[in-house]
Amino acid sequence: MWTNSTFALQSENRINRTNRINQTVATIKFQFEDKSIPEKTVTGDFLDQSILELTEEYDIHLNHNCGGVCACSTCHVYVESGEAFLEDISDKEEDFIDRAVNPRVESRLGCQCVILDNAAEIVVTIPDQSWIIGHEH
Ligand code: FES
Repeated sequence: MWTNSTFALQSENRINRTNRINQTVATIKFQFEDKSIPEKTVTGDFLDQSILELTEEYDIHLNHNCGGVCACSTCHVYVESGEAFLEDISDKEEDFIDRAVNPRVESRLGCQCVILDNAAEIVVTIPDQSWIIGHEH
């Protein structure tokens, strides 16, 4: 038998289900070549933000000598997983990665890694920054 409370309960369940489906947050885990720095995981609405912007926002040291315009390689990072959630690499970015220290297949420039999906799950390794002289956050 249907009652008002049964209907209210079903409506509430439907709303909760809908909210769970629509509730997406990106999760970015930062780990560091320098093992003395603890890992940091951040979650939130990061759509259209770059990895460099997130490091600034969350007080993570990542140099960016050119100011984030793809004209140096000091914001070099390794995207260990979640590359598909990021804007594609450009020829210009590849050219600057070639000038980075210890480039790998996972190399990207943090200022060019724009997050395209708010359900992104990305793991980034920040290379040792101690040898770079220049802008910090
Ligand atoms: S800050 Fe210079 S290329 Fe990213």
